Amino acid sequence: RGAPNTARDLTGRHVVVSAGGTREPIDPVRFIGNRSSGLQGYALARTALARGARVTLVAANVALPDPAGADVVPVGSAREMREAVLKAAADADAVVMAAAVADFRPSGYEDMKIKKTAGAEPAPIRLVENPDILAEVVRASRAVGARHQVVVGFAAETNDVLENGRQKLARKGCDLLVVNEVGERLTFGAPDNAAVILSADGAAVDVPRGSKDALADVVWDLVAARLV
Ligand code: CTP
Ligand code: CA
Repeated sequence: RGAPNTARDLTGRHVVVSAGGTREPIDPVRFIGNRSSGLQGYALARTALARGARVTLVAANVALPDPAGADVVPVGSAREMREAVLKAAADADAVVMAAAVADFRPSGYEDMKIKKTAGAEPAPIRLVENPDILAEVVRASRAVGARHQVVVGFAAETNDVLENGRQKLARKGCDLLVVNEVGERLTFGAPDNAAVILSADGAAVDVPRGSKDALADVVWDLVAARLV
């Protein structure tokens, strides 16, 4: 697909991108995690930099080189990501939540490695819900007197992709929702991606299978059109 967009249309803008997947610790050596590689978030950061933006990249558990010029904030868990994103979002023109945030975390943390005991049943791991970072960003940006901010969510769906996407956009209240279909062999760690980008005004933009940079540039096109 096309050449990278180097229009400097994000000059003077601060954008926040979250990338990767959170890890919710169980004990010092174990966690509950997910399959996100961080590639789409890093593509968003790179393309925003190329378009002139100042970029804060909140990165959870990725094995990728820092994009040159980005302000990279490494985080581990969803709660750490929440703190970093909300802090950076305070003066941001756009916030893009590309990270896979764990919905749940273990209710407790064992200070010492959990041991097995011969013959004994393992203790169950109880889960509690994590904060919804995207929802909090939307709430803050819609507060009276808040600056205009474009908020973008991502939705990974395994089935009924469009139907679930539209419902999620309405529920989350963000400006744009990038919906892609995931599965064990789809999207995760892959260099390319296909998506449909739903907007709060009812529009849907189909992005055919292409590089994650190409998808990122379409996201920034739609964001740039919504900046005042
Ligand atoms: N998200 C978030 N905080 C969470 C969970 C999700 O900020 N605790 C963000 C993700 O980064 C993504 C968007 O919300 O941009 C949608 O995530 P998704 O998991 O698809 O939606 P959920 O509302 O968690 O619904 P479900 O997983 O039940 O489909
Ligand atoms: Ca979720």
